[in-house]
Amino acid sequence: MHSVICLFGAFIVAAVFHPGSCVQTVIGLYGETIEVPCNNGNNKPDGLIFTKWKYVKDDGSPGDLLVKQALKDEATVSATDGYKSRVSIAANSSLMITQGSLADQRVFTCMVVSLTNLDEYSVEVKVYKKPSAPVIKNKAKELENGKLTQLGECVVENANPPADLIWMKNNQPLVDDGKTIIITSTITKEPGTGLSSTSSSLQYTARKEDVESKFTCTAKHVTGPDQLSAPETFPIHYPTEKVNLQVVSQSPIREGDDVTLKCQADGNPPPTSFNFNIKGKKVTVTDKDVYTLTSVTRADSGVYKCSLLDNAAMESTQNVTVSFLDVSLTPTGKVLKKHGENLVVALDKNASAEAKVTWTKDNRKLDKQPDFSTVTYSDAGLYVCEVSIEGIKRSLSFELTVEGHPKITSLTKHRSSDSKHKVLMCEAEGSPKPEVQWNVNGTNDETSYVNGKATYKLTVVPSKNLTVSCQVTNKLGTDTREISVFSLFEEDTKKPEKNEDGAEQAKVIVGVVVGLLLAAALVGLIYWLYIKKTRQGSWKTGEKETGTSEESKKLEENNHKADV
Ligand SMILES: *[C@@H]1O[C@H](CO)[C@@H](O)[C@H](O)[C@H]1NC(C)=O
Ligand SMILES: *[C@@H]1O[C@H](CO)[C@@H](O)[C@H](O)[C@H]1NC(C)=O
Ligand SMILES: *[C@@H]1O[C@H](CO)[C@@H](O)[C@H](O)[C@H]1NC(C)=O
Ligand SMILES: *[C@@H]1O[C@H](CO)[C@@H](O)[C@H](O)[C@H]1NC(C)=O
Repeated sequence: MHSVICLFGAFIVAAVFHPGSCVQTVIGLYGETIEVPCNNGNNKPDGLIFTKWKYVKDDGSPGDLLVKQALKDEATVSATDGYKSRVSIAANSSLMITQGSLADQRVFTCMVVSLTNLDEYSVEVKVYKKPSAPVIKNKAKELENGKLTQLGECVVENANPPADLIWMKNNQPLVDDGKTIIITSTITKEPGTGLSSTSSSLQYTARKEDVESKFTCTAKHVTGPDQLSAPETFPIHYPTEKVNLQVVSQSPIREGDDVTLKCQADGNPPPTSFNFNIKGKKVTVTDKDVYTLTSVTRADSGVYKCSLLDNAAMESTQNVTVSFLDVSLTPTGKVLKKHGENLVVALDKNASAEAKVTWTKDNRKLDKQPDFSTVTYSDAGLYVCEVSIEGIKRSLSFELTVEGHPKITSLTKHRSSDSKHKVLMCEAEGSPKPEVQWNVNGTNDETSYVNGKATYKLTVVPSKNLTVSCQVTNKLGTDTREISVFSLFEEDTKKPEKNEDGAEQAKVIVGVVVGLLLAAALVGLIYWLYIKKTRQGSWKTGEKETGTSEESKKLEENNHKADV
C-alpha cells in the first residue's frame, strides 16, 4: 500500500492509492453539510450530457443518488432511501449532503457523461465529530498518602474518530508507570450514532504535597485545539507522625491564671479527640483539642502530656511552671520612732524564681535595704520596697516618722549688713517641728525646718543691753538658751566703731599698733644712724608692715565670738 497526499481546495486530503485509481478523501463535519467534489471541479467537458452521483450500498448493491442533465437547471433525485431528502448538486457538480452522519462515511462516485466520454471519479467521505468537553467523574473524596487510589475518571463523549485523553498534574502529563500511576482507557461506541466516547481512569499514589496539586484531563482530537477539564484538587489523608502539646496561655503563668493546653497532631484529617495526662491523671477530651486548668496555683506546676486516643505512643510532654511570689515586710504602715532609737527592717520572700528587690525612700532609689541602728530625723520618710519576678510585682511600704525632744544646737547673733539691726539665729533639732518663743519683740524674718533641724531668725533693734532667750517647744518638751545683745544706740552715739562691745579692745589694738609703729620708727632711726656711721652699702628690710586691715577684721570677728 502506498499513500499520497492530494491537495484539494482548503482541505488537506489523504488519499489512498488503489491500483489504477487515486481515491480522494474528503472530510465532512457531523451534522453539517458535506460537500463531495467531482474531479476537483474539473467536470464540465465539451459535449457534456449529464452528471450522475451514485454510491455502493452497504449490501453491495448500486445506489443512485441524482442525475443532472446538462441542459436542465434542476437535477433529478433518484435516491429512494435516507439520501432522498438530503442530497443536492452544486453548480460545480459537487454533491451536497446535508446533516452529515457517520453513515455517510463511504465512497461516492461522480459519473460525467459527454458525447465522447464517460468518466467516473470516486471520493471517500469521512465524517468527523468534535468531542464534548472532558469531565472528571467519580472523583475520590480524598487521597491517601502513599497508597494507590482511584482518583477519578475522565470522560469525553460523541467523538469521531475517538478522542485521546491525557491526565495532567499541574499542567504536566502523567505517564502510566504501572506502579504509582495507572491509567486505563476505554472507548465505547454509541449504537445509534456510531460516535465514540472515551473514558480514562486514573489510579494515583498521592504524596502529602499533592494537597496543592491540580489534576486536569486534556482531550486531544483531530478536529481542533485541545480541550481541558476543570481542575480538581483532593485532600490528602495521612496518619499522625507527631503530636505537639502547647501551653497556649501567656508566659509567665501566675497563680490564679487559667491555663489552656492545646494538643495538635500533624495527621490529616487531624484527630479530633485526645487523651490529656494532667500530672498523672488521664483525661479524655472528645471533639476538641484543648484542656483548660482554671485558676492554677503553685501546686499545679508539673508535667503535662497529651496523646492520641488510638496510639498512646504518639505523645507530647510539657512542663508547666506556675510562678508565685510571697513577700512580707516588717514594719509596714505608719511607724513612729524616737530619735536615737533602733528600728529593724526585715523582708521575707518566697518565690518561684530569683526575686529582684529595689528600695526607694520618698521616690528616690536606695542602694540597699535601709537599716536603722539609731534613727535620726533625716531617716523619716516613706520607704517603698518593690519585689519582682517575671510577671509578678509586689510593693510594700512603711512610713517612718521620727520624734524627738527639742534641743537647741546653736544661738548666734550678728549685725545686719546695713548695721541697723541685730539678727539672732536660733537652731534647734526636734520633731514634731518645735515652736519658738523669743523673750524680746522683733520681726520674725524666717524659719525653716528640714530633716528635724529648725532654724529661727529674729531681727531686733535693741535700744539697751539685752539678754535674749530662745525657747523651743514641741509636745515632747522644751529647750532654752540665752545670749547677751548690746544696745545699738549707745555704741552709735559713743563710738563710731563697728564693734558693739569692742571699745576696750579697740583701744588696746590702737595702742599696740601705735606702739609698733613707734618701735619701727625707732629701729629705723637706729639703723639709719648705724648706716651713716658705718657708711657701708645699701641694705633694706623685707619685713612687712604689721597691723593690716585684714588683721583688724579677724580681731573683730573674734570679739563677736567672745560675746557668747
Ligand atoms: C463548488 O461550489 C461550492 C458552492 O456552490 C463551493 O463552496 C465549492 O468550493 C465549489 N467546489 C469546487 C471544487 O470548486
Ligand atoms: C520537665 O521537668 C522534669 C522534672 O520535673 C525534667 O526532668 C524535664 O527535663 C523537664 N522537661 C522540660 C522540657 O523542661
Ligand atoms: C512687746 O510688744 C508688746 C506690744 O506690741 C508689749 O506689750 C510688750 O511689753 C513688749 N515686750 C517687750 C519685752 O518689749
Ligand atoms: C552695756 O554693756 C556694756 C558692756 O558690758 C557697758 O559698757 C555699757 O555701759 C552697758 N550699757 C548699758 C546702757 O547698760
